[in-house]
Parts: sequence; structure tokens; C-alpha cells
Amino acid sequence: MRRVALLGATGSIGRQAREIVAAQPDLELVAASSGSTPIDGLAPHTQVGGDLTELLERSQPDVVLNAVVGFAGLPATLWALERGIALALANKESLVAAGELALTARERGGGPILPVDSEHSAAFQCLEGREGETVSRLVLTASGGPFRGRTRAELEHVAVDDALAHPTWRMGPKITVDSATLANKGLELIEAHFLFGLPYEQVEVVVHPTSTVHALVWFRDGAALAHLGFPDMRVPISYALTYPERAATPVEPLDLAAGLTLEFEAPDLDTFSLLGLAREAGERGGTYPCAFNAANEVAVAAFLEGRLPFLGIAEVVERALSTVDGAPAADLDELVAADDEARRAAEAMLEPVA
Ligand SMILES: NC(=O)c1ccc[n+]([C@@H]2O[C@H](COP(=O)([O-])OP(=O)(O)OC[C@H]3O[C@@H](n4cnc5c(N)ncnc54)[C@H](OP(=O)(O)O)[C@@H]3O)[C@@H](O)[C@H]2O)c1
Repeated sequence: MRRVALLGATGSIGRQAREIVAAQPDLELVAASSGSTPIDGLAPHTQVGGDLTELLERSQPDVVLNAVVGFAGLPATLWALERGIALALANKESLVAAGELALTARERGGGPILPVDSEHSAAFQCLEGREGETVSRLVLTASGGPFRGRTRAELEHVAVDDALAHPTWRMGPKITVDSATLANKGLELIEAHFLFGLPYEQVEVVVHPTSTVHALVWFRDGAALAHLGFPDMRVPISYALTYPERAATPVEPLDLAAGLTLEFEAPDLDTFSLLGLAREAGERGGTYPCAFNAANEVAVAAFLEGRLPFLGIAEVVERALSTVDGAPAADLDELVAADDEARRAAEAMLEPVA
């Protein structure tokens, strides 16, 4: 029996994870949390808001599924990594922001990170058991979001509802907006760097509108391994929670005989500049990824509240990044200070842009 703590139990990932846990006799939900939604009775230990590490201490899970959205998920990520407790990670923002600190915590704890992000779950499976020197390149696929093919001029007046109409995935509002700007793929690029220890030049992003191929790994002999399936988060959630058993899920396999066309194209980095900004932040290292994430969180929240136009998101992030110090964080306090500095810089940019 694997005892699961589900953080962010009321969200898009959280609800699908509850379905997986309920259907799997070897999984037991021992703890659940939300930000503010009431969750009485969902699990023996529950918590609404507050310090999630208290819930984890009380419930002593075997696996933490971190499906909180944003930097708020960081303490729980570090709690699991420090203790060597398996971390099923949907909350990419915590790994992006903490980077080296998270990896150091993982070294000390010795437990696994099981990616829940579909692309990283796919890459994890393609890379598992391969020697590092045989891998030449990891390809992360991006659906391109609802605005694929549009010009900057066409994006000037898009509404919040347009950005929330994702073509292939049904997700929470923050990640859906991140998918529309391609910031999500930028965060995933940095996430992949830390998860798989690959330099940025070995991680490529390719647009693939149907989200059928989730990731692809090129090897030095010219062969590629790809991971295919319907875009359904229950597959990577189940994989992470039941690893390495790979339990059955209700998700149907693709019907290849009905015909399957796979299209790929390069991302439009001029229109969707957050992808390039993320790569730059990752390559600069230090707390630049943390600052990228923080400024993006502020800008996305402002967009969702109607305080910032869609194209203003990238503008705010770019300008905030140009003001921060970016020096590496020696500990959690310094990381939180870097996050805070970037948030304040982004908030200050909102007025002139809006
Ligand atoms: N959705 C997907 O398909 C998908 C795919 C890949 C990766 N991810 C990643 O998974 C994470 C969750 O995404 P989502 O789409 O499930 O988001 P979501 O639907 O917005 O759900 C977010 C969850 O986090 C909780 N929460 C929000 N703020 C919190 C805080 N300050 N402290 C504690 N809990 C808080 C929410 O509780 P309330 O209900 O009380 O607000 C909710 O349970 C994100 O990092 C996202 O990038 C999601």
C-alpha cells in the first residue's frame, strides 16, 4: 500500500489524481490540501492553505503529489526531497525556481523525482536506463496553444477567455495562460534541464499541434525514441504514483489504423518571446529562473484580473528580468528574497504597461 499526500487536491491535476487513487487498490489517500476550497473528509489528514509541510509532517506519506500551482508549492517540494520521500512533481514552478537548491536537497535525501508534467514523464520513460553519453537531444513538444499561427498584431486585443481556450488540454487557468504565451514551455525547458541534467543546448522545443507525441529523445546513433498517447493527464499521474509498476488506466490507446498524422513546426519566438526569455534565464543560471517564474506569476495574475493585456505579460517579465540581480541563492532565505525582488519588480512594471 502506497500512502499518497495530494497537495492541490481541488485543482485540475488534483481531481484527476483523486480519480486515479480511488481506482487503484494499492494507493491510499492519506492527506489532501487546497488553497482555500473546503475539503473536509477528503482524506484522514486535510489542510486548507497554510504551511503544507505541517500536513506532510502529520501524515508521513510514502509519496507526495505536489499539484499546487506556483511558487507556493516550493516548501512541500523541498520537504519531500530532503527526506528522500518520492516526489510526484506537477508543480514545475518549484523546481524551476529552486533549481540547484532542489537538486542538493535531492542528493541529501536520495529519493526520486517522478515527473507528472506529461512531456517530462514521457522524457523520463524514454531516457530511463540510457547512458548519458548516448543521448544527443531531448525534444519537448508544445501544442502551440490557442494562438498558434497568430501575429503580434492579432494578439493585441485578445481576451482572457480566448487565452483560456486551450486546443488540446483542460487545465487550471495559470498553466493555460502559460501555454498561450509559451511561458509554460519555457518553464518546462528549465524543468527538463534540472530533472535530466541536460545542458540547454541539448533541449529543443518543437510545436506539435495535436499533442500526440509528448516527448522525443534523439540518440547519438541517429535513432529517436518517442512517447505517444492521447493528451490525458491521468496517464502521467498514474505512472508517477504507481512507478515502476505502470498500473492500468481507463485511457484508450491511439487508434493508429484510423490514420495518424504527426505535424511538427518551429515555435514562433518573435511572437511568443517568453520561450526565448526562459531559455536565456535558464542559461544565465543563478536566480534568473526563479525571477522569470516570479515575474511571470505576477504578470499572469494581472492578465487574468484584466489589469494587463496579453502581450503585456512578456513585456513585464522581460523588463523585470532586466532589473534583478540574479545572483545564485545559497539557501532558501536567499531564494525567497530573489523571488520577492522579482515580484516587486514585476508589480512596479504593471502600471506603465497597463
Ligand atoms: N492541469 C494540467 O493538466 C497540468 C499539466 C502539467 C502540469 N501541471 C502543473 O500542475 C500544477 C497544478 O496545475 P492545475 O492546472 O491543477 O492548477 P489548478 O487547477 O489551478 O489547481 C491548483 C491547486 O493548487 C491549490 N492552491 C492554489 N494556491 C495555493 C496556495 N497558495 N497554497 C496551497 N495550495 C494552493 C488550489 O486550491 P484551491 O482550489 O483552494 O484554489 C488547487 O487545489 C501547476 O504547477 C501546473 O503547472 C498541470
